[in-house]
Amino acid sequence: MQQPTSNKKLVIVTGASRGLGLAICHLLAADNYQVVAISRASSAALDALCSSNDVTHIPFDLGNLESLHELTKSIVKIHGRPYALINNAAVGFDGVLATMHNSEINTLLNVNVQAPILLTKYLSRAMLLNRTGRIINISSIIANTGFNGLSVYAASKAALEGFTRSLAREVGKAGITVNCVAPGYMQTDMTDSLTGDKLEAVKRRSPLGTLATPEDAAGAVLYLLSDSAKSITGTTITVDAGSTA
Ligand SMILES: NC(=O)c1ccc[n+]([C@@H]2O[C@H](COP(=O)([O-])OP(=O)(O)OC[C@H]3O[C@@H](n4cnc5c(N)ncnc54)[C@H](OP(=O)(O)O)[C@@H]3O)[C@@H](O)[C@H]2O)c1
Repeated sequence: MQQPTSNKKLVIVTGASRGLGLAICHLLAADNYQVVAISRASSAALDALCSSNDVTHIPFDLGNLESLHELTKSIVKIHGRPYALINNAAVGFDGVLATMHNSEINTLLNVNVQAPILLTKYLSRAMLLNRTGRIINISSIIANTGFNGLSVYAASKAALEGFTRSLAREVGKAGITVNCVAPGYMQTDMTDSLTGDKLEAVKRRSPLGTLATPEDAAGAVLYLLSDSAKSITGTTITVDAGSTA
C-alpha cells in the first residue's frame, strides 16, 4: 500500500504551467496542499513556485493516452494517493469546422476529453480506496452558450459537463464529489488573439463591466476542494463576471 509522502492533501493539476492551471497551483500551495503539476513544459513562474513550495512538476503530453496509466501509477507510488484531481489542461484550436484538419479535431478531443476521462478513471481508484476525493473538471461557458469557430472545443466542454454529472452519481456513495468550474473569457495565452474592440465588447457585455480572471476561477476550485463544499456534487460553478446572466 502506498503511503503519502507528507500529511498534506495531494492535488494533481493538469495544465499547470500558465494561465488558470498556474493560478490554481498558487492558491493550492498557499493553502497548504501538496501539488503535482502536469504540463508538457514547465515555465519560469511554475519553476519559481516549485522551488519554494510543495509543488512538483511532471512534464507529460496528455495527448499520449497510452502512457496515462503508467503516469498515474508512478504518481501514486511516489507521492501517495491523491485527494483531488483538477482536469484543467485543454487546447482551444479555433476555426471553421468544414476546413478544420481531422488531426486537430483528434488532438483536441484527446487532450480535452479522453485524457481527463482516463486520468479520472485511474486516479479515482485511489480515491475509492480512501473513501474520499474531489474531481474538478474545467469546462467553459461555451459548453452552453456556443461560439462561432469553436464548435469542437464547445463539444469537448459539453462532454466534460455530461461526464461530471453521471460520474458524480457513480462515485458519490464513496465520498467523492465531481464538479465543473466553467469560466467565462479570461485573459490567458489561450485567448491572446482576442484584443482591441472585440475584447472591449466582451467586457461591456458583462454586468460587472469586467472579465473574470484566472485567480477568480481558481478561487472557485479552491472552494470546491474545501470542507465547506462537501455537499456539492454533479454541478457546474460559472465564473464569468455575469456574462451569461
Ligand atoms: N482562457 C479562457 O478564456 C478560458 C475560458 C473558459 C475556459 N477555459 C478553460 O480553462 C482551462 C485553462 O485554460 P487557460 O486559458 O489557462 O489555457 P492556457 O493558458 O493555454 O494554458 C493551457 C495549459 O494546458 C497545458 N497543456 C496544453 N496541452 C497540453 C498537453 N497536450 N499535455 C499537457 N498539458 C497541456 C499547457 O502547458 P503546455 O503547453 O506546456 O503543455 C498549459 O499549462 C482550459 O480547460 C480552458 O479550456 C479558459
